[in-house]
Amino acid sequence: MIGKDKLIETLINVQKNSKGHYISEDKLEEISKELGVSLSKVHGVASFYSMLSTKERGEYVVQICNSGPCYIQGANNIATIFEEELGIKMGEVTEDKKFSLEFTSCIGACDIAPAVKINNEVYGGLNKEKIRELVEMLRKEGN
Ligand code: FES
Repeated sequence: MIGKDKLIETLINVQKNSKGHYISEDKLEEISKELGVSLSKVHGVASFYSMLSTKERGEYVVQICNSGPCYIQGANNIATIFEEELGIKMGEVTEDKKFSLEFTSCIGACDIAPAVKINNEVYGGLNKEKIRELVEMLRKEGN
């Protein structure tokens, strides 16, 4: 029986090397067989951690925190601004596969609420202008 850490590590590696930055159903089954862990457990772990996804994501994963403090500070407004800037709705991926939008629970940056995490970077104090600049910068930076 392998440990949960090994399973998480495997899922992270598979996701890192997958097109679309997510773990497909086929990959989940492969991992289940290779590690001898039930498919439901692999599914459970893959869906529990916000760094992992079983749905296609963009090169930049925009995660908007909507836990209490961020919600009160206007997380939904931030989400609407990102939706307008990117031309997609929450849960979707841009056509060029560059950005995806999703909500997440607390990312430990409540002091700068409403907080947003894009890949490994955390941003706070965002407004329409700052979001526009950020999206513009990431569009240029992307592959
Ligand atoms: S509640 Fe949003 S970062 Fe903590």
